[in-house]
Amino acid sequence: MQLLWVVVMGVLGAFWAEGEEALCRILGRPEFPMLSKEGDVTIGGAFTIHTEISEPPLSFTDTPPPLICSSMNLIDFQLAQTMIFAIEEINNSSSLLPNISLGYRIYDSCGSTLSSMRAVMALMNGQERTVGKTCSGQSAVHAIIGASDSSSTIVMSRSTGAFQIPVISHLATCACLSNRKEFPSFFRTIPSDFYQSRALAQLVKYFGWTWVGAVRSDNAYGNNGMATFMEAASLEDVCIEYSEAILWNNPREQIARVVEVISRASSKVVVAFLSQLEMAVLLEEALAQNLTGLQWVGSESWTAIDRLATRRSSAVLSGTLGFTISKSKIPGLREFLLRVGPAQDPNNTLLREFWETTFSCRFSPQQEKDSGPRQRQCSGSERLEEISNPFTDTSELRFSNNVYKAVYAVAHSIHDLLTCRHGEGQGGNRNCAHRDSIEPGQVLRYLRDVNFIMKSGERMYFDENGDPTAIYELVNWQRDQAGETVFVTVGNYNASLPKGDQFAMNGIQIVWAGNPLKRPRSVCSDSCLPGYRQAEIKGMPVCCFSCIPCAAGEISNLTGETTDTTA
Ligand SMILES: *[C@@H]1O[C@H](CO)[C@@H](O)[C@H](O)[C@H]1NC(C)=O
Ligand SMILES: *[C@@H]1O[C@H](CO)[C@@H](O)[C@H](O)[C@H]1NC(C)=O
Ligand SMILES: *[C@@H]1O[C@H](CO)[C@@H](O)[C@H](O)[C@H]1NC(C)=O
Ligand SMILES: *[C@@H]1O[C@H](CO)[C@@H](O)[C@H](O)[C@H]1NC(C)=O
Ligand SMILES: *[C@@H]1O[C@H](CO)[C@@H](O)[C@H](O)[C@H]1NC(C)=O
Ligand SMILES: *[C@@H]1O[C@H](CO)[C@@H](O)[C@H](O)[C@H]1NC(C)=O
Ligand SMILES: *[C@@H]1O[C@H](CO)[C@@H](O)[C@H](O)[C@H]1NC(C)=O
Repeated sequence: MQLLWVVVMGVLGAFWAEGEEALCRILGRPEFPMLSKEGDVTIGGAFTIHTEISEPPLSFTDTPPPLICSSMNLIDFQLAQTMIFAIEEINNSSSLLPNISLGYRIYDSCGSTLSSMRAVMALMNGQERTVGKTCSGQSAVHAIIGASDSSSTIVMSRSTGAFQIPVISHLATCACLSNRKEFPSFFRTIPSDFYQSRALAQLVKYFGWTWVGAVRSDNAYGNNGMATFMEAASLEDVCIEYSEAILWNNPREQIARVVEVISRASSKVVVAFLSQLEMAVLLEEALAQNLTGLQWVGSESWTAIDRLATRRSSAVLSGTLGFTISKSKIPGLREFLLRVGPAQDPNNTLLREFWETTFSCRFSPQQEKDSGPRQRQCSGSERLEEISNPFTDTSELRFSNNVYKAVYAVAHSIHDLLTCRHGEGQGGNRNCAHRDSIEPGQVLRYLRDVNFIMKSGERMYFDENGDPTAIYELVNWQRDQAGETVFVTVGNYNASLPKGDQFAMNGIQIVWAGNPLKRPRSVCSDSCLPGYRQAEIKGMPVCCFSCIPCAAGEISNLTGETTDTTA
């Protein structure tokens, strides 16, 4: 019991009295941020900077060893640098938070709930072994931007809720996070899947596909998103032929089995509620098994990701339709990103790793005993301008724009707090703060009321659940003259319009999977001809039926007649 207590407290931090004065200490190893800078106001960040994690066995007799994260994720490294860019931009601004310096502490959530837990504890506690002279309980950060997946965000928001530290996610779409009772301090700049799942069901129905297959990520994102989709689909009379779940680190045989299910199925449409990582492994297996000719319908996580839309992948995915969040331009971001490198801080291990990953080189001389291919030495003066990778690619800023908006939302709420605008005190007693005594709970209250316009012209505010307005673009994967895949916007979805008007096509020709000019059909049974009526097949979904001739005395002069029309 005693030992378990130490293990738990090692993570949470402990408080005890020393002499007269209470002194707060964190037990165990402090966790250091990967990127940080101090300021009057500090914003925390948690991104999936690495995608692989070694989870050490817990012995319960020693403090747990550090988690080792590997395999750098350049997509999230761009998100983290976008957060720093926004902070610097606001720091430089003379109208937003003038005279206040902003700082940041960015942690790696490794895409795992365990390391997200550690990151959020470190964000709340700070990394000093001794936390101030008194146990004030003051958090080290005023708000947290993150995380990049729903599961990690759920863990983080659960931990911070009691302390009223706002968490603003750029990517967590699980509808479950809109529950204000459970997640009172959660906000996001990406629409909830509550809307996306319904939009997908309406899309499938719109094209007459009443018989579809379903694949999802086996995590909070995929499971919740798919559950809502299936509910909405059944209201639209769409039937699901199969429903499979995968995770990117599943054994290959399991992914192969799912691809076999898809290829054996009779439906021609696959609704894929998958994260990028799962889509990437599924695509590899689909290419290996020549899974072609199917109409893919994608969720926003993978639908407009360049990395997946290669010449090679078009054999499987050409004609894909799916929703994405709107893209935007962030002036100055590209130049900022191209300046990132170890020269900024030679001691920062992450910046060195970024360089080594990008240029396939090493800073430290390779040891004799090291196996693997020999790599050349990094000079440090390699040129990022000449590289094209997910970090330097700023052609389609969607998720980065969400990070950018999240930082601005925090800055506006603190600005309003310091200038006594809006907020709780509106009209009545004004609740202001001085810059030395800003509490996260005050930032939280002011965040609920932020309402401002971004430089791009977009209005930014949160509804009572902390959600932004749900607006999606419907994109279609087409080929340009050079044969490259391009994402063409063929429609829009605006959840704030009345039902029936939400989904609008813009008239641009869609290129379909299989035969590019012909919309695929995906029904379980063809409608019955006049003179016949549908008859239920026992044990099959309602979309599957047989057609039986109308009995004497009955007529059906319509196609698709289900009940008898008695003459
Ligand atoms: C913000 O501005 C202050 C003063 O100009 C500077 O010292 C600090 O490094 C800046 N912080 C960031 C994150 O750029
Ligand atoms: C902020 O100002 C500094 C100093 O003028 C400049 O070097 C930096 O590029 C600016 N940062 C941003 C993001 O505008
Ligand atoms: C910022 O600081 C300068 C110098 O300390 C001061 O003159 C100015 O009034 C301050 N501006 C605001 C908006 O507080
Ligand atoms: C896929 O197609 C290629 C070329 O048409 C062929 O060489 C390969 O054997 C096929 N693979 C499978 C698993 O059918
Ligand atoms: C880098 O680390 C070395 C040794 O720990 C230290 O002497 C040096 O000041 C550090 N440099 C910077 C820029 O922080
Ligand atoms: C969505 O609909 C709302 C309400 O009519 C409207 O104010 C807003 O401009 C629309 N947004 C877009 C991007 O069409
Ligand atoms: C079917 O028959 C009904 C009743 O006679 C008639 O009102 C209706 O117009 C007919 N529909 C078609 C498509 O012929």
